[in-house]
Amino acid sequence: MQDNNAMFADGAAYERLMGRWSQKIGQHFLDWLAATPGKDWLDVGCGNGAFTEIIQARSAPARLAGLDASESQIAYARQRAGCNAAAFQVGDAQNLAFPDASFDVSVMALVIAFLPDPARAVAELARVTRPGGTCASYMWDLPSGVPTFPLYRELAALGHVAPMPPNAKISSSAALQQLWQDAGFEAIEVQTFTTPVIFDDFEDFWASNSGSVGPQAAMLHSLNDADRSNLRAALRQKLPTDAAGRIAYSATANAVKGRRAG
Ligand SMILES: C[S@@+](CC[C@H](N)C(=O)[O-])C[C@H]1O[C@@H](n2cnc3c(N)ncnc32)[C@H](O)[C@@H]1O
Repeated sequence: MQDNNAMFADGAAYERLMGRWSQKIGQHFLDWLAATPGKDWLDVGCGNGAFTEIIQARSAPARLAGLDASESQIAYARQRAGCNAAAFQVGDAQNLAFPDASFDVSVMALVIAFLPDPARAVAELARVTRPGGTCASYMWDLPSGVPTFPLYRELAALGHVAPMPPNAKISSSAALQQLWQDAGFEAIEVQTFTTPVIFDDFEDFWASNSGSVGPQAAMLHSLNDADRSNLRAALRQKLPTDAAGRIAYSATANAVKGRRAG
């Protein structure tokens, strides 16, 4: 089994790999949730605070709590100026250390596919949310919707199949909808969001994608020099690059939301 703590042991590397795309897609998600100001928010699997920061900036929460399994991600989140209204703690999404009915809006952003037991995490999300409150989640549409997909594709073409998150199949709209139905939510809706993924040049792409975090990192770092050089050459040739050297493609995420019954 993949070790989530090892996969997400560096908040700065996460920021370089995913934080900027997480915030872009997260803005669509927050617009879709359309929560009114003054709500109590919980951000489960908040990581380095990339998404927590935009909750604080856009949703005017009365209370904002973030929880993640990784101590180093939480340490990064705590020093983010844009998260200065949030209270962070280390914890497990599948066993939340909050009393029943503590929050109005409980979310999991880009987390659910990493959990060994997504249904248990969703039950916990429901438990800590007040009746009438909102529980919602979004995940990259795995495998092809994740911003790192071009890297996965070229690794595979060279014979190196990098692991996806352990519960990648839960990322489809149908699977998320079923999970929310099974958990007993009302007024369930699903939505798909797309965001541009743009790098200044190839080195920006490589520095972002070759860091120490994410499910693909261990395999990437195990490549010998020849394989690494072949990978870079294949990516350089195949990534969509404009005349100015910029690389641009898109990433897609599926989202689900529902109202806690009661
Ligand atoms: C892809 S990151 C998403 C971070 C952030 N929510 C965002 O949108 O950028 C996935 C996060 O899930 C966390 N995670 C994985 N398993 C977890 C668990 N059982 N409980 C809490 N957090 C977990 C990881 O530590 C990591 O920070």
